[in-house]
Amino acid sequence: MDDSRETQEPVNPKKVIGTRRLKEAMAKPAKLRIFTVANQKGGVGKTTTTVNLAASLAMGGLRTLVIDLDPQGNASTALGVEHRENDGIYEVLMGTTPIEKVVQKVAGFPHLECISSNTALAQAEINLVSMVARELRLKEAIQELVAAKQSAGVGYDYIFIDCPPSLGLLTVNAFAAAQELLIPIQCEYYALEGLTQLLETYSVVKKRLNNDLALSTIILTMFDGRTRLANDVAASVRSHFPNELIDIPIPRAVRVSEAPSYGQTVMTYDPGSPGAIAYLQVAREIAERGKGFDSNVVSINYKKGESA
Ligand SMILES: Nc1ncnc2c1ncn2[C@@H]1O[C@H](COP(=O)(O)OP(=O)(O)O)[C@@H](O)[C@H]1O
Ligand SMILES: [Mg+2]
Repeated sequence: MDDSRETQEPVNPKKVIGTRRLKEAMAKPAKLRIFTVANQKGGVGKTTTTVNLAASLAMGGLRTLVIDLDPQGNASTALGVEHRENDGIYEVLMGTTPIEKVVQKVAGFPHLECISSNTALAQAEINLVSMVARELRLKEAIQELVAAKQSAGVGYDYIFIDCPPSLGLLTVNAFAAAQELLIPIQCEYYALEGLTQLLETYSVVKKRLNNDLALSTIILTMFDGRTRLANDVAASVRSHFPNELIDIPIPRAVRVSEAPSYGQTVMTYDPGSPGAIAYLQVAREIAERGKGFDSNVVSINYKKGESA
């Protein structure tokens, strides 16, 4: 894979050295695309998918922001940003810190930024309940940041929101703030269980809070092509979501799971490994689909797909 490595340097697993850029840039969307990465099941690859896609798009020259909306802070860890003592998305949601103040640069990626989370975010589910427009706090904060970035001439191309494993107020805030829903599905037994509930939340939010939201992308994670089960899950997802599924499964790969303990994505930890290559291909596909992206066009296309 020529575009996964800029140089032939040995991989340094401890520290990100230099910057990551692909030789061939990725297609720039006509306007900002905001994805929420959600699945109320834990451990299905939400965080891994968020950080590696964001890193890949940033390597492709696109300005990308990751918002860590999980109190566990795994996305912040994987991107190697501070997230224990500093203010993050919790303080933004509570209105105590302006969003512009909590944006952090991600080492090794000139185009990648992150808003971290901390364990205080767990209280947000409770503290948000009594707030005015409690479902729209994140949306309003993102709008403020996007406006500030645009007026500084450095607008984002992509924003990814990494959701916690629940369908509570944090996830509803993410659904309300995004235009596109990305669902990672782990290729295992019970993979499709719970999907009905997730899709119900999606349609309620779409109806009540955010008409622009479209389920645009489904990604198969931790795929092991040798097992019949994984292939059965893939076939089933393909038949239900022919347009949404990106037919490049992410393989189960040990390098992918090692990378976070070095505060890295697999894109820097081992860019030539199968997991990194797959995420890069998926990112390119997402970027291609997003050429001239317009959320209204997307929902019309998907409605057509549903009736087929
Ligand atoms: N493609 C993969 N290959 C191997 N391990 C993976 C892969 N994707 C995710 N993992 C591991 O599976 C676990 C759960 O993934 P994670 O992205 O944290 O899920 P979620 O955010 O949905 O809870 C983590 O330990 C992660 O490192
Ligand atoms: Mg996670």
